[in-house]
Amino acid sequence: MKLGELAGGVPGSTLDGNGDVEITGLAYDSRRVKPGDLFVAVEGLQADGHAFVGDAVARGAVAVAVDRDVTLPQGTPVLRMGSTRVGLAQVAAQFYDRPSRKLRVAGVTGTDGKTTTTHMAEHVLQASGVVAGAMSTVSFTGSGGEVDNLSGQTTMEAPEVQAWLARMVEGGVACAVIETTSHALVQERVGACDFDVAAFTNVGHDHLDYHATWDEYLEAKARLIDLTASSADKGIDKTAVLNRDDASYERLARRPIARRWTYGLTTASDLHPLDLNVTGTGSRFRMRTPLGETDVTLHVPARFNIYNALCAAGVCLALGVSLESVGTGLAGFEGVRGRLEPVDVGQDFRVYIDFAHSAGALASALAELRPFTSGRLIVVFGSTARSDHDRPGMGRAAADFADFFIITTDDPLDQDPVEIARDVQMGAEGKAPGHDYEIVIDRRAAIRRAIELARPGDCVLLAGKGHERSMRMASGSEPWDERAEAEAAIRERLAIR
Ligand SMILES: Nc1ncnc2c1ncn2[C@@H]1O[C@H](COP(=O)(O)OP(=O)(O)O)[C@@H](O)[C@H]1O
Ligand SMILES: [Mg+2]
Repeated sequence: MKLGELAGGVPGSTLDGNGDVEITGLAYDSRRVKPGDLFVAVEGLQADGHAFVGDAVARGAVAVAVDRDVTLPQGTPVLRMGSTRVGLAQVAAQFYDRPSRKLRVAGVTGTDGKTTTTHMAEHVLQASGVVAGAMSTVSFTGSGGEVDNLSGQTTMEAPEVQAWLARMVEGGVACAVIETTSHALVQERVGACDFDVAAFTNVGHDHLDYHATWDEYLEAKARLIDLTASSADKGIDKTAVLNRDDASYERLARRPIARRWTYGLTTASDLHPLDLNVTGTGSRFRMRTPLGETDVTLHVPARFNIYNALCAAGVCLALGVSLESVGTGLAGFEGVRGRLEPVDVGQDFRVYIDFAHSAGALASALAELRPFTSGRLIVVFGSTARSDHDRPGMGRAAADFADFFIITTDDPLDQDPVEIARDVQMGAEGKAPGHDYEIVIDRRAAIRRAIELARPGDCVLLAGKGHERSMRMASGSEPWDERAEAEAAIRERLAIR
């Protein structure tokens, strides 16, 4: 695409220099510039990109986009914009020919349940015969097969998001579901996505101590509604799907949008369950929706998955799926890798893998498993190197909600796993080491220890790694497969007995 044509699609930008230059790619990291790229200098993506425009040109960038003055080799075409962060999204959408206008798009945001709801909606769409694709923490789909998301980011930067949407369009996808974090919304990564549906799970207080911060967090998420309301018209009502039982509801409901559907457990919501019957492995209910009623059977455990299912149902109905197809589709959903994923190789106790890696998520995962556990609830978990993870809080959650716990390692990066475990242990005050819990730093050994301790009727939760494929240590990333570890440990034990 010619630079001039690219610039023409970026509102508020001005081009200084030769617009006939051919742009063959986009880069926002100067280290990854390829000859022919337009380098977009963004503050905060890799320090301040403006400091690296010279490097980018040296590596072959044929033009640069900036939002402030920089010194450049003479003759380099410059695209000036008010904000390169906003501009990067627009440039990317333009470069890939606005793919999000060629399919229907739903965004799913919230604190918990985004990935599950995203893949549930994708599954229901597929099951109803719609060619669908998804982008999530776990994977990217819609372009033939499933590609693991190894980026460590749930919502990638705008060029990757737009490139994947373009692949979906090429693959014949009619509906895309994009898991959208609040970071992504603040950083404009989905700024130029034309959404049709904005879906919200919950907006928790988890790691937020101040109300003002929660307000900001909520504002960031609410932007998904504004983006959706102002997106290109594709012939369906722009819809917000909101959790009426969540504290965020009142605020989110004030944002203007063509259609608003609420979901929740009471009859006050547009989508709600009737005759709800919850078991240890799923639930069954009659679902009332704005379009009528249908029977729903869920083969995924936990009450929160009823919320996720109602939300996914709202998304799919808004995208045009028939009510009956939503009911049938939900029944065929088998869960997301690493989200309360059962591991069953014939043992007489239950084992689950879950991605819960915050104190709140750990507590809620354990609380969900408790009512269906006749024996003891055993959990294996660790805290990561991330500073926003409340280590003692995780220890407290395990102490409060489990009968026995094993503190182990989870992505320590350059920190000492023993020290991290000690921080976690601080939260387990009042519990006796050796009696109520153990510290087993080696995760493989910790999993084996938990499996060895389990008795018939017990439930073992392996928390934190979920779907992840690596353990990030000081020495680098090592391959990790929680499911394979769990199965191997169980098989070893079964063979011994
Ligand atoms: N609707 C929900 N409300 C509260 N917790 C949830 C919900 N859905 C899932 N969870 C919990 O959060 C964990 C992460 O779920 P996931 O779907 O990956 O959410 P996200 O993508 O928002 O992090 C799950 O393993 C489960 O323990
Ligand atoms: Mg996620």
